[in-house]
Amino acid sequence: MTEVLQVKQVNKIYEGKSPFQALSNVSFQVETGEFIGIMGPSGSGKTTLLNLISTIDFPTTGEVLINGQAPHRLGGSSLAQFRRKQLGFIFQDFNLLDTLTMGENIILPLVLEKVHPKETNYALQAIAEKLGISSILNKRTHEVSGGQKQRAAIARAIIHKPSLLLADEPTGNLDSKSAKDVLVAMQAMNEQQQATMLMVTHDPLAASYCHRILFIKDGKLFNEIHRGSNRQVFFQQIIDALSMLGGDANDLSTIRL
Ligand SMILES: Nc1ncnc2c1ncn2[C@@H]1O[C@H](COP(=O)(O)OP(=O)(O)OP(=O)(O)O)[C@@H](O)[C@H]1O
Ligand SMILES: [Mg+2]
Repeated sequence: MTEVLQVKQVNKIYEGKSPFQALSNVSFQVETGEFIGIMGPSGSGKTTLLNLISTIDFPTTGEVLINGQAPHRLGGSSLAQFRRKQLGFIFQDFNLLDTLTMGENIILPLVLEKVHPKETNYALQAIAEKLGISSILNKRTHEVSGGQKQRAAIARAIIHKPSLLLADEPTGNLDSKSAKDVLVAMQAMNEQQQATMLMVTHDPLAASYCHRILFIKDGKLFNEIHRGSNRQVFFQQIIDALSMLGGDANDLSTIRL
């Protein structure tokens, strides 16, 4: 099985006074080791899609398979365990615990799995070195920069070697230098650990680090572009694709160059 993720004809309708179809017949696959971007105007369904993949929410119809398994068919504690083992999450606002040190935050997934402390410490040192945050492991969230926080969050998301890493606007709260550090870190994790990653982003520069980008509009897959060897060329292709997409994705005022 080389597909880590299979999204099959997924529909999502938010029920309520006026039901709203947020996703329509979305299908795609992600292979092991791919770094996929998801872009689209505000309200197009990106977070909805990520929530279905991350098993936080359920599709109305259709199916999501992760490593061939259907997590949505698992109940309560099996689902929680599946999520803990198979998935890693990176959020826009870091989601680190203020009362713990960076190091304690990073090892949480291993602590939850009751991994031996010696093995845990070894994994912590190794991942921190790869991400250039070895010197801040004893610090707390208020003592480090945004970029360092996000790199710690990446370390936490990946230390247990999940099948799939999901990131929703991971560079959204960062200045351009920190954003670049985080993207380079994600790229390194993708290349060195063969981490399969799916990132939602508004930022064409962030998206240019991906291998492939899926564009969604009004809840439907609209377009897909692949990166060749050159990131600068890909960046321009992304800008062009966004301008075809219209909506607020067309607003390039937030671009960092
Ligand atoms: N819980 C909900 N109940 C009803 N409608 C919802 C709910 N969550 C999202 N929606 C609607 O579904 C559509 C898709 O929302 P979603 O959050 O997936 O968009 P998005 O692409 O992530 O947007 P943004 O770029 O602004 O984060 C929007 O029209 C939104 O208003
Ligand atoms: Mg969103």
